[in-house]
Amino acid sequence: MGDCRGARERASLQFVSVCPGSRLPALLVAGGMALACLGAVAGEWWRYPPRDEIQLSDTEGDPLALIVDKKHRLPPDYVPQNLVVLEAGTSRTTREVRVVRERVDPLRQLAAAARRDGIDLAVLSGYRSFGRQRAVYASWVARQGGDQDATDRFSARPGHSEHQLGTAIDFTTKEIEDGIGPAFQRSRAAGWLKTHAPEFGFRLSYPKGREVETGYQHEGWHWRFWGEAAPDPEVDAERAD
Ligand code: DAL
Ligand code: ZN
Repeated sequence: MGDCRGARERASLQFVSVCPGSRLPALLVAGGMALACLGAVAGEWWRYPPRDEIQLSDTEGDPLALIVDKKHRLPPDYVPQNLVVLEAGTSRTTREVRVVRERVDPLRQLAAAARRDGIDLAVLSGYRSFGRQRAVYASWVARQGGDQDATDRFSARPGHSEHQLGTAIDFTTKEIEDGIGPAFQRSRAAGWLKTHAPEFGFRLSYPKGREVETGYQHEGWHWRFWGEAAPDPEVDAERAD
């Protein structure tokens, strides 16, 4: 997902401000301090930039290429055009799911390819409005005992979710009883998606080991459709590792 320079810049700034290396008297102390600082930087990956540094996404541009992350937010009234309810026969779904129309055919093709390979795949979530995302985020904060830091690692604040674009999908599979969470990552469906979803223009938004860039922990189930803007499948397979 998107522009990660901000996260790196913030990380660098934090490193500089927390680490007065030149004033430290001994290499040992400096080394220990640097390690502590690196830990602090690595530990900050879930944070949002200050409010005045968060930009509005360019909603005039190609909707399939819109950047939505912790640095870029969608306006509360942004609703994608061409939202459609997924019809029976497109993919198994666990509830009513809406996505943008451009996603339907690639999703149907992906689901058919999975079926041919004996993989059960179902769509758990598609489009979520700003208001729905606000409720989802608030419910996660409540379940985390009010801890927003913990919640920011895996749930987007309203305006910051790719689900508001109507191009992101959470998949599940019968192997994990149509649930969601880290268990999905060990499922056959997750392995199949890593190999094949990029061929259909889908891209894993939150790959393993990319937390500092994406701002979220690994989500093997959250795939965004990019269409022509999708990166090279081989590059994406690496991202999905
Ligand atoms: N779980 C992803 C980050 C979302 O809430 O959109
Ligand atoms: Zn998702």
